Amino acid sequence: MFSGGHARITAVGLAQTRLTRKTTQMFYRPEAGHSLPHNPLNAIVSPRPIGWISTVSAAGVRNLAPYSLFNAIAYEPPQVMFASNGDKDSVSNIRETGVFCANVVSQDMRDVMNVTSGTVPADVDEFELAGLTALDCQSIDCPRIAGVPASLECRMTELLTLKGTDNFAIFGEVTGVHIRDDCLKDGLFDVTTFQPLSRLGYRDYAVVENVFTLKRPSD
Ligand SMILES: Cc1cc2nc3c(=O)[nH]c(=O)nc-3n(C[C@H](O)[C@H](O)[C@H](O)COP(=O)(O)O)c2cc1C
Repeated sequence: MFSGGHARITAVGLAQTRLTRKTTQMFYRPEAGHSLPHNPLNAIVSPRPIGWISTVSAAGVRNLAPYSLFNAIAYEPPQVMFASNGDKDSVSNIRETGVFCANVVSQDMRDVMNVTSGTVPADVDEFELAGLTALDCQSIDCPRIAGVPASLECRMTELLTLKGTDNFAIFGEVTGVHIRDDCLKDGLFDVTTFQPLSRLGYRDYAVVENVFTLKRPSD
């Protein structure tokens, strides 16, 4: 639909019409409150990928937790980040060891991923709690989750304290990449094979099932 000249102009024209139409909008300043039943911020910034973060404490206790304030932020060298609202076990472990692994969550792993979001004491091994197998990372001293579509081994580059109470952003350089063989199709990491889970607002999730290609004007 977007490839032919006429069809493309039509699609762009339709979007332009929609974007210039006069609409009514609510506006709020976060410090004054949103007056809605639930905070809409996460629904506005959605969908978000989920980094299923595996770490180990200095004492050797393995930890797992999902973070949707997560993304890739640079290609050369490859870097990712995630943010924690709270000085959580993942943050303390990375402070102690300087490393973490970001594992990809496929839709069939959603319930076990959710188990690892529970608040448990720091001395609980969350791989054991969730019944997951831990494998050693190759480039860092950290566990990764067996069977996930991909894992990114990361060495922390920065741990920033953000505005507010106990808000942190952790940045890491990717030092090793694991990709499950069956997820590679003709040399491409095929998301339709494993259907990544993504986080929306509230308690909502979405699954990536439909993929289309859109070439850039310069392609
Ligand atoms: C899908 C999902 C995404 C989450 N994303 C975040 C996030 O981005 N930041 C955060 O602070 N907590 C997030 N949480 C909550 C943490 O996973 C939860 O607080 C967890 O207990 C932290 O574990 P830890 O103390 O072992 O690090 C998320 C939970 C779920 C289920």
